[in-house]
Amino acid sequence: MRNSEIKMLYIIGLGLYDEKDISVRGMEALKNCQKAYAEFYTNAFHGKLENLRGEIKILSREDVEGKAAFIKEAKNKDVAFLVPGDPMAATTHVDILLRAKKLGVETRIIHSSSVFSAIGETGLQIYKFGKTTSVVFPEKNYFPQTPYDVLKENLNAGLHTLLLLDVKADEERYMSVGDGIGILLEIEKKRKENVFTEETMCIGAARLGGGSAIKYARAKDLADFDFGPPPHAIVVPGKLHFVEEEFLDYLK
Ligand SMILES: C[S@@+](CC[C@H](N)C(=O)[O-])C[C@H]1O[C@@H](n2cnc3c(N)ncnc32)[C@H](O)[C@@H]1O
Repeated sequence: MRNSEIKMLYIIGLGLYDEKDISVRGMEALKNCQKAYAEFYTNAFHGKLENLRGEIKILSREDVEGKAAFIKEAKNKDVAFLVPGDPMAATTHVDILLRAKKLGVETRIIHSSSVFSAIGETGLQIYKFGKTTSVVFPEKNYFPQTPYDVLKENLNAGLHTLLLLDVKADEERYMSVGDGIGILLEIEKKRKENVFTEETMCIGAARLGGGSAIKYARAKDLADFDFGPPPHAIVVPGKLHFVEEEFLDYLK
């Protein structure tokens, strides 16, 4: 039982796809809070916020990573902060917890579904994934090769790799499987280490939890496949168990 005198910052996961993915526990907390905020810069959200409650203020990355006034507000009000997926599956939100601790603000996390478990829909065993990495939109003088290095490391260890794809919500740009493959092939052209080629068998996964589209094919064929609206992700399998192999055959 919680002492209602103590005010709280509730960080509530919205889950994988739309407003139907929030938990009953999350919904209860959201209804009881005096103020509610949400962020969508870490992922796309396909739901209708107004179906959850009135007056939910959407915060930009700057609002959250800058002053984050909503954290202080939770000193004397119950405040809800809604985030796509699971709250603990984004580095930003760990930072919020830390800042709340420093300010003496009580927090409660309400978990929800996440790409990190939903990726199991590909038939690959969750325990056999290595480091996750992100493919970002290249910019002038900024073309990080990190995803290539992580992929190389995981493949050497026989592990699967989940590649998250960049989101630029303020510009409404969501990286597609085709864009991601194009970027990885560009890096291959520079590095020539045979880590990711047009022949690499990989998986494209879109909208897990919301009418998923999943396909397993050579990179060059996957790049031309229309996965539809975001979010999209790519998986490069490592060493396959025969059951994983059998499952992947159904995704070709
Ligand atoms: C920065 S991560 C945020 C993860 C989120 N906090 C979670 O727990 O699911 C966002 C990226 O994950 C991937 N992603 C998230 N949800 C997805 C889904 N339903 N289907 C496919 N990929 C997804 C996309 O690559 C997207 O750009």
